[in-house]
Amino acid sequence: MKRMYYVSRFSRALSGQDIDRIGESAQRYNRQREITGFLVCLGDAFFQVLEGAGDEVDRLYHERIAPDERHKDLLRLKTEPEVEERLFPDWSMKVFNLNNAAESLPFAFREMLSSLLESHRIIAEYTQPSLLEMLEQGIRPTSVAPRRERVTVLYSDIIGFSRFAEHVAAEELIGLVNSHAEICSAAVIGEGGQVNKLTGDGVLAYFPGRSPDSAIEAALSILGEMARQRAASDATSAHRHLYGGVGLVHGMVHEGNVGSPLKRDFTILGNTVNLASRIESMTRDLDVRLTIDGSVIRSATREYPFESLGKHLLKGQSKELELFTLRTLSRLDIKDVYRDIEAFVTQGP
Ligand SMILES: Cc1cc2nc3c(=O)[nH]c(=O)nc-3n(C[C@H](O)[C@H](O)[C@H](O)COP(=O)(O)O)c2cc1C
Repeated sequence: MKRMYYVSRFSRALSGQDIDRIGESAQRYNRQREITGFLVCLGDAFFQVLEGAGDEVDRLYHERIAPDERHKDLLRLKTEPEVEERLFPDWSMKVFNLNNAAESLPFAFREMLSSLLESHRIIAEYTQPSLLEMLEQGIRPTSVAPRRERVTVLYSDIIGFSRFAEHVAAEELIGLVNSHAEICSAAVIGEGGQVNKLTGDGVLAYFPGRSPDSAIEAALSILGEMARQRAASDATSAHRHLYGGVGLVHGMVHEGNVGSPLKRDFTILGNTVNLASRIESMTRDLDVRLTIDGSVIRSATREYPFESLGKHLLKGQSKELELFTLRTLSRLDIKDVYRDIEAFVTQGP
């Protein structure tokens, strides 16, 4: 049996009658499917516990509860995938509408619940999706053993960032980093990848369990969106000079917990990860926007117009590697880009 806990927020004002209606319809359905639990309504928040057969709880959550337009911002707090006994065997869905209660205790609970909810949502924004997924499935991330996995790693960073960092105002610098991170995150998530880390002006992402095609498509979206943003920015904005290089490598990584209780990270490690940033830095030497390792080409399933950039000995590597780019991407005249950035940061637009 499975037990699941989630919180959500009203999407609009709901009356006592609205809450009763949710409860009645829930009880009718839950009784038939042997689902038990309770629903607390406090301020503009719901807190619900559902327990029953695993597939029934999942179906109820995904097909009836999540799509219900009366609430939004659903956040699964915890799932216990294998519980032996019900905690609430007599409640097919007991509703506690604490907004109706006259005493002051519900007010105290409402404050507690809303502050917990608020901090949980903020922490969720800072946390990697893979970690949240584990929590939602009832897996304790700290108990997950390290594993080896074949992935494509994508690394992107902002060209000339140290020059911007030295000269432009803090808000503008952070704006640049945020735009780059947002462009990369949207492209990576859109192609089914995971953003692993924001490394200042860099973004480290990976694509587990799929061919490198997704990473290539994400790289193309990143470069396309950056070009659009440059074109849409006026001459007074540093965004006019937002250029990034992207590097792609396919290979084995170690995925797991690193750190200590003082500071933990659930991350990927290994030569494939190091190589991605080394390969990305070669965009500057080779005047290209995208550098690709041969491992990506060997595993790609679609036909891409790969073009060899010759063999290179990269820092920290013992063997020369043949690097590639896509013939269809226009070349980057790195000297021009640096010259324009230099002129922008020293003389202004
Ligand atoms: C906060 C909240 C909790 C809900 N809990 C349940 C539930 O436990 N069981 C259920 O079948 N539906 C639940 N629902 C969904 C609705 O009650 C139900 O899908 C919707 O009213 C359609 O009902 P109908 O089948 O009677 O038209 C919940 C909806 C909300 C907003």
